[in-house]
Amino acid sequence: MSEKKEERILSAYEKAAAEGIDPRCIPLRLTGAVPVDKEIQYPNYLESEQETWRFLFDRQMKFLPGRACDEYIEGAKKLNFTPDKIPALKDLSTIFKYTTGWKIARVPGLIHEQNFFKMLREKIFPSTDYIRGKDELDYTPAPDLFHDIFGHMPLLTESNFASFYRMFGEAAMKAEGIKRKYLETFHWFTVEFGLINKPEGVRIYGAGIISSLGEVQHALSSEVEVLPFEPEKLVLQDYDVWHLQPVLFAIDSFEHLEEGFKDWTKRIGLLP
Ligand SMILES: [Fe+2]
Repeated sequence: MSEKKEERILSAYEKAAAEGIDPRCIPLRLTGAVPVDKEIQYPNYLESEQETWRFLFDRQMKFLPGRACDEYIEGAKKLNFTPDKIPALKDLSTIFKYTTGWKIARVPGLIHEQNFFKMLREKIFPSTDYIRGKDELDYTPAPDLFHDIFGHMPLLTESNFASFYRMFGEAAMKAEGIKRKYLETFHWFTVEFGLINKPEGVRIYGAGIISSLGEVQHALSSEVEVLPFEPEKLVLQDYDVWHLQPVLFAIDSFEHLEEGFKDWTKRIGLLP
């Protein structure tokens, strides 16, 4: 494949946007600085927005015991999640500083992948701070704070996961052509839809599952084929961002994820 042709490979969200799906799925290219850590103001949330958080929090928490991995549950405890109040990004950022050294940036929506990868490389997690509407409680096509905070943040307190994610940003900044597509697929089947083998059974760690009512009930059901985590095979697996996932991959530990990613990126010449 020529380099020119490779450059035209679109991300799954870019493709969806090009097909006229939801404008919120068109990634925004950041043109200036965004507030980070202590600079982030707490929005003046409406009481109805706080109610949405409480509703989603309580509903999802009912399904997580025995389904989400211990590292997620521990992370949620460290972040002091409570149904009473939407967490302040500034406070979460402070907790990360004392666990894995990450920080939070407040972003206005789905951001362009080059902005996203650059932040990850610098140990900054970009998060939205608005919540979905009452008509979208079960499904929203683009990220909102429930997905970003409740789904993603607990695992950022886990050292091997956090180290893998920083490395992911570094590798993704360098990836071109088909390797960009591989990394997007890698992200999908780990960070968003990853499973983990535990002595007590398979458990969930992916943010896309943890923050979704449908996925959290579906992911560990007999309708899903669970494959072992092998990066070369995983990056060739097709997926559809708009439907429940029929195939998922299970890591053995977060060290396994970190080492597996490190070895694979070395083999394909992305990281030294
Ligand atoms: Fe996500």
